[in-house]
Amino acid sequence: MAMVGFKDAEPGAATPPDAEAVGRAITLFLERLLADESLAWSFDGMDLERVHRHTRAFVIAALGGPDLYVGRDMRTVHAPLRLSDENFDAAVDHLVVSLRAVGLADDLTAALAARLEPLRRQIVAPQP
Ligand code: HEM
Repeated sequence: MAMVGFKDAEPGAATPPDAEAVGRAITLFLERLLADESLAWSFDGMDLERVHRHTRAFVIAALGGPDLYVGRDMRTVHAPLRLSDENFDAAVDHLVVSLRAVGLADDLTAALAARLEPLRRQIVAPQP
């Protein structure tokens, strides 16, 4: 089990994020990833129900809510995919758009994008 480790970050939302709304945003996020031909390939054969569940918990923690994340650490999960900086940027964009679509305020999504930035070096593969 890997904790997300956002507890030391700046305090996030004053009120915990609405878990139900974040769940809808993650559904939208996965739809957007699968519709993006630069990213969709990576989800071939993946258990999307599990990815949804883990990503939802991860994002709730990243937004300053309770940390109920029980997925693997970000490097272990993404290393086999050999992701690029462009892949990372595109995924963050899809996530922000999806959270805004369910009504999350712009300042919260901007704060989230900033919190995800340190994960770049865990998610993106070292380029040869
Ligand atoms: C915005 C940055 C990203 C975050 C916060 C993130 C977060 C996560 C989380 C929490 C999981 C679940 C881990 C688990 O089930 O143990 C996951 C899995 C996954 N992510 Fe990401 N991810 C990001 C970027 C990307 C990108 C850019 C791609 C590729 C297009 C990607 C592809 C995948 C795939 C394919 C899985 C499933 C892996 C598996 O089940 O073995 N992710 N991600």
